[in-house]
Amino acid sequence: MAPLTIIQISDLHLSRTHGFFNANWREVLRRIQISASEQVIVSGDLTVDGADSADDLAWAAAELARLGGAALCIPGNHDCGEEFEGAHGQRIDATRRNRWIEHFGVEWWFRELGNWRLLGLNSQLLGSGDPAEATQLAWIEKTLAEASGSPIGVFVHKPLFLEHPGEAPAPGHATLPGPRRRLLELIRRARVRFVACGHLHQYRALHHDGIDYIWAPSTAFLVREQLPGVQNALGYVVHRLFEDGRYAHVFVRMPELTAIDLESLKGGRYRYLRDIPPSAVGAIMAEHGLAAV
Ligand SMILES: [Fe+2]
Ligand SMILES: [Fe+2]
Repeated sequence: MAPLTIIQISDLHLSRTHGFFNANWREVLRRIQISASEQVIVSGDLTVDGADSADDLAWAAAELARLGGAALCIPGNHDCGEEFEGAHGQRIDATRRNRWIEHFGVEWWFRELGNWRLLGLNSQLLGSGDPAEATQLAWIEKTLAEASGSPIGVFVHKPLFLEHPGEAPAPGHATLPGPRRRLLELIRRARVRFVACGHLHQYRALHHDGIDYIWAPSTAFLVREQLPGVQNALGYVVHRLFEDGRYAHVFVRMPELTAIDLESLKGGRYRYLRDIPPSAVGAIMAEHGLAAV
């Protein structure tokens, strides 16, 4: 029997006012619309600045609706704020979380797909101290226990670790060590097959302790930081879920997307994309050959 297929897209970074990457997304949308995947999953950073801009969230939700309600989304740090101190003034909080929920319905979810069980989590709650952190954790524990025995896949925005579960904290890059340990314990106990993330804008496949860890690339832009073993290209990931519990995936590069690295786009003039005045966006896009949508 043919495996079930999931298309995972990540880090779309959509915006009405800062629409640098909207044309790339529309190209990805065309590709998805002609694919025969059972499910589309969007692993966070749907927006340029949904953490502070309700309009970015509204724009991204309207764009994702072009898939006809087929996409399951989880928030990224740019959509609902960060979990660590020194998070550039954008800590996750009730206001930011509720804004995401208003546009996308839920922060975390569970789906049955064939005999597979899928969980999507809000990475930015892990280690945040937000009251919803404990609620999500209790839900993860219960949901994984109930799904145990079925093949399980987990989707998060941030990777649980970069190289190894015992590594030093890398706030801003990976989940903080405390919640990482707790989550890994639950994931191992439930015999989860794979954990798929986004956030680093690079593709990578790691295997650790019987679990596949897949980093989906961005559809929007490249970053200069090269982590070991990565492929730095735009595109998406197709996950194949076999009925007997086997799991496979492929990284699909999309050379037809405009691949620009973030630093050259900011041109040394801005710390974050959100700092660029909307009035300056058109000229920057023209300078870099980015099409408007
Ligand atoms: Fe991102
Ligand atoms: Fe991110």
